[in-house]
Amino acid sequence: MSQTQAPNLTTAPAQNASATTLMQGTGNGASSVYSSYLKITGGIEGWFGDGAIAVWDSLLDFQRRAKITGHMLEIGVHHGKSAALMAMYAQPGNKVLLVDYALKAAKIERALAAAQPAPGVEFVTAECDSRELGVSPLVVQTYRQHRWIHIDGEHSAGAVTNDMRIANQLLASDGVLVIDDFFSWLYPQVTEAVLRYVRQNPDDFALFLCGFNKAYLARPHFVHNYLQFCAAELPEALAARGQETTVGKTTYPAEMNVFGVGPRFQGKALRGPDWEDNLVRF
Ligand SMILES: C[S@@+](CC[C@H](N)C(=O)[O-])C[C@H]1O[C@@H](n2cnc3c(N)ncnc32)[C@H](O)[C@@H]1O
Repeated sequence: MSQTQAPNLTTAPAQNASATTLMQGTGNGASSVYSSYLKITGGIEGWFGDGAIAVWDSLLDFQRRAKITGHMLEIGVHHGKSAALMAMYAQPGNKVLLVDYALKAAKIERALAAAQPAPGVEFVTAECDSRELGVSPLVVQTYRQHRWIHIDGEHSAGAVTNDMRIANQLLASDGVLVIDDFFSWLYPQVTEAVLRYVRQNPDDFALFLCGFNKAYLARPHFVHNYLQFCAAELPEALAARGQETTVGKTTYPAEMNVFGVGPRFQGKALRGPDWEDNLVRF
């Protein structure tokens, strides 16, 4: 059993011991990238809430500490609000692919300049419908080399399914796929498309976290590392970023092995099932 920092909470053993050796240090504080991003986000128009920003920063910081690197992709960029945070984490040699069928180049350039990306990061923009990506050489050139993909384009079920097929070609073995407006009342078809895709293609992606309007997926052979992170580090990482949240894991792994995150619930930073709320199994 590994003990979390929160009192009276225990976590089940990780399903794979490599989860505990992946990390360099505990990383319980907020990253310096986070405070830098908070200084610029107010000046960029878009849709990227405080809770989602804190979850992204926690996961991207985990990737940095775990030395998970690679290219990044966003489908649906608007003015570059979420792309700017991706840009801040991109490392020299990484490509950041930005795809939008109505690319607002000047606004995006301004957001990326404010992000002050590392030298050697290559930004590649594609002004096209994401359905055209399937025949783009970019997919061949960066096949399975992306460690962060954000799908935030057309919110139809058909488009989300298409974008997940593209993501399956691009996501690296240790990467994260983020999908916007999961569990949004306004776009129930997004939720249906994501759950249907995962059910029909269980070897492509496994959902490990949802909340603050986003779904987070990883490869089935790596997802235990992200599940371990959710249990052992995410509650404290969010608190360090000033977010009063609850990370929940409210049923048995065999039923659904997915964490949820949202505003603080019943005073707990980490919560198990209704019938045993101090025990988190994953
Ligand atoms: C909700 S906005 C993206 C928000 C952005 N990620 C942010 O940080 O604010 C959706 C974007 O997707 C683009 N879009 C919609 N349908 C698309 C499609 N089929 N292919 C590519 N881009 C699309 C729109 O032009 C718009 O810029």
